[in-house]
Amino acid sequence: MERTCYYFPIGLLLATSMVVIGAADIITDTSAIVALRDHIVSDPHLILTKNWSISFSVCDWIGIICDSGRQRVVALNISNMGFAGTIPPQLGNLSFLVSVDMSNNIFHGYLPEGMSHLRRLSFMALSNNNLTGEIPSWLGILDRLQYLSLRENNFFGDLPTNICDNLPNLKELDLSGNQLSGQML
Ligand SMILES: *[C@@H]1O[C@H](CO)[C@@H](O)[C@H](O)[C@H]1NC(C)=O
Ligand SMILES: *[C@@H]1O[C@H](CO)[C@@H](O)[C@H](O)[C@H]1NC(C)=O
Ligand SMILES: *[C@@H]1O[C@H](CO)[C@@H](O)[C@H](O)[C@H]1NC(C)=O
Ligand SMILES: *[C@@H]1O[C@H](CO)[C@@H](O)[C@H](O)[C@H]1NC(C)=O
Repeated sequence: MERTCYYFPIGLLLATSMVVIGAADIITDTSAIVALRDHIVSDPHLILTKNWSISFSVCDWIGIICDSGRQRVVALNISNMGFAGTIPPQLGNLSFLVSVDMSNNIFHGYLPEGMSHLRRLSFMALSNNNLTGEIPSWLGILDRLQYLSLRENNFFGDLPTNICDNLPNLKELDLSGNQLSGQML
């Protein structure tokens, strides 16, 4: 009897703190997605206006896929949405993100270094945008990457020589259609 009395509040306390932690996670992911929304300056299909409403969970927004518990964003697919804008560093706060597909839009500017925090990322498609800068060396940290396409952007500079060594799981790498020079080793 006494044991039950002791265990019950502890169990309750654990359950409560787990809910709070879970809520903090979706709050972090929501602010990252909202930062992305705020950096999009062109929305020809009115996706942001009509669907990405802050009155609903980001898990209900087109292109955002959450885990089954709706606590973390695990995939982002905003390909072919006609979006123009920049990629905010906050995107790197989506620490459970496994897949990002932003291909066929008009994102410009640099890939923010904050994205180097996306350590679970295995799929990254940013092809057919207007991104620029050198191919960042921190991509070599994302060692779960299996697919990486930066095709048809405005990246310049030397080809990263060690990217294949650093990314042991990489099955497909497409950097074509940029202004890169040098050789891939
Ligand atoms: C956004 O669109 C999706 C897919 O069409 C739909 O399931 C969801 O309810 C919409 N969300 C809002 C907030 O309108
Ligand atoms: C993203 O969505 C498009 C259109 O629905 C689809 O063709 C593409 O395969 C999706 N990308 C990923 C990584 O699932
Ligand atoms: C999210 O990312 C930004 C920029 O990288 C950072 O300043 C911020 O502290 C991060 N954390 C949260 C919880 O938003
Ligand atoms: C892409 O960027 C280049 C130079 O950075 C610019 O001249 C061009 O207009 C941009 N294209 C689009 C579709 O925004």
